[in-house]
Amino acid sequence: MGLQKNRGCGLLTKDNTGERVTIAGWVQGRRDHGGLIFLDVRDRTGIVQVVFDQEKSKSFFDQVEKIRPEYVIAVEGSVIPRSREAVNPKLKTGEIEISADALEIFNPSLTPPFYIEDGIDTDENLRLRYRYLDLRRPEMLELMHFRHKILLETRKYLDKEGFWEIETPMLTRSTPEGARDYLVPSRISPGSFFALPQSPQLFKQLLMVSGVEKYFQIARCFRDEDLRADRQPEFTQIDLELSFSTREKIMAIMEGLVRHLFLQVCGEEINPPFKVLSYQEAMDRFGSDRPDTRFAMELFDVSEIAAKCQFRVFQNAVTSGGVVRGLNAKKCGHYSRKEIDDLTALVKSWGAQGLGWMIVTGDGFKTPLAKFFDPVLLDQIREIADAREGDLLLFIAGDKEKALDILGQLRVHLGQREGLVSPGEKKFLWVIDFPLLAYDKEGKRLTSVHHPFTAPLEEDRPLLASDPLNVRSQAYDLVYNGVEVAGGSIRIHRKDIQEEIFALLGLTPADIEEKFGFLLGAFQYGAPPHGGLAFGLDRLIMLMAGRKSIRDVIAFPKTAAGNCLLTGAPAPVFAGQLAELHISPVLREDKKKG
Ligand code: AMO
Repeated sequence: MGLQKNRGCGLLTKDNTGERVTIAGWVQGRRDHGGLIFLDVRDRTGIVQVVFDQEKSKSFFDQVEKIRPEYVIAVEGSVIPRSREAVNPKLKTGEIEISADALEIFNPSLTPPFYIEDGIDTDENLRLRYRYLDLRRPEMLELMHFRHKILLETRKYLDKEGFWEIETPMLTRSTPEGARDYLVPSRISPGSFFALPQSPQLFKQLLMVSGVEKYFQIARCFRDEDLRADRQPEFTQIDLELSFSTREKIMAIMEGLVRHLFLQVCGEEINPPFKVLSYQEAMDRFGSDRPDTRFAMELFDVSEIAAKCQFRVFQNAVTSGGVVRGLNAKKCGHYSRKEIDDLTALVKSWGAQGLGWMIVTGDGFKTPLAKFFDPVLLDQIREIADAREGDLLLFIAGDKEKALDILGQLRVHLGQREGLVSPGEKKFLWVIDFPLLAYDKEGKRLTSVHHPFTAPLEEDRPLLASDPLNVRSQAYDLVYNGVEVAGGSIRIHRKDIQEEIFALLGLTPADIEEKFGFLLGAFQYGAPPHGGLAFGLDRLIMLMAGRKSIRDVIAFPKTAAGNCLLTGAPAPVFAGQLAELHISPVLREDKKKG
């Protein structure tokens, strides 16, 4: 039997002086001083220095000389204090070292393609290709540990609140969460497919019909959509559902979860209740349904004033039913023409026709729009915008939704550029009363803003037939520092209302029966009122850990192009496998490889 590790490298301190220990791990570095060789040995707890003295280690010193970085070894020895000059205050174990008297080399290592240390500036694709080496870096292992603690504390909190963890199928029917499905062909039913779940939405609702009352799951979800820094095709939700509850109660339990996680995992106090904004207010004030409220720069409405000015673009926007909205970039009046032109190009890239601007000076406004506004109107603008000397006012004219959205993006851009967010600040916010329905991108079909199982606000239900676009839903999103970290709703639990919604979404009775017959069937056997929510776990961990990409907090993530560089997935399969699945590929000409 070889050497048996009994201590963590990073846990040894001067309190252990004199103890005999066996450590095991990877060699971080070596220094050869002739008759003395020093190795830094690293495991997941940290790094400790080991010293091999040629005299003491005669029988194996030739082996020590062969050791290189990332060799896996075990060392037995005694903990001794370092001499005063050799103390390393940067290392937790910096006051001691291990004087080795036995060594075992488990495995040599090739020279790694990048340094196994924190803060490396290595191309992410290389890191993902050698993810097992990337994860070996202390900051990455610490993130994995952090994720473990979040999961553990989530389970503890939800258990205490009476939730049961229940797993739902991975091979299922498609759930409409708005993305494309990943499909799995069935060998046994030729031509039929399972879909990987976009979320456990329908199963958790069925669990409520089953009488579970409080369910949760750390659920893996699959969505074939365009990826961004905060989106992965395969991601994890903390998914919950409750019966006999209210929106307010569900929000309070979730606030409790967030508070518990911050306190237990980060040792930080977060103080619920969080602020609540209606969707309309969030859009009007911040131009976003997930506003970053760590800084002000709220939008204002100058449509009425603009209608009276002589500037055709503004006038036309208002007379054709649109708006002119603006924001005050405080103390940005020093921006040069070039900087303002760059902002204009930016908003144009988001779909704006142009960007109106006014710099507030000591005696008026510096603006190309001056000739179109008489002084009374300018005074009104000054008041609405709370404008002071040195401010820069920016305006977007056009369709209301578009103008708000563009100003919302501009606000975030300027907030970052001007460093308005202080580090470490945390702002949680609920957004409620979303519209239930909206037109799809082509403007032809109604779609659900959340998902089709979201209940309309009771008081708006009569509008379903007459004015569906003005029906608000019982949905709620939790926003953390401008990122949507959770979303949920009170659900429809009655067959007739669910059918009415499906019909508004353009489903025929035959479609409804085919796709959702099982759900409507369940609603006929005593479905309790219910609601729930899902946290995007990866996003939450990313933000709590102060990282910019969710790839950093997922052990084996996909690239932005949706590939796994480590395993080379997705990859072609053997023709025989396809034949067994009754599939023959039809590759479009432009997708065929060379
Ligand atoms: P929703 O689609 O809003 O709701 O998802 C819930 C949360 O999951 C996160 N999220 C993602 N995270 C990483 N990568 C993705 N591709 C991705 N897509 C979503 C977000 C989001 O807030 N069934 C409903 C929940 C419910 O109504 O109970 C649902 O899935 O943080």
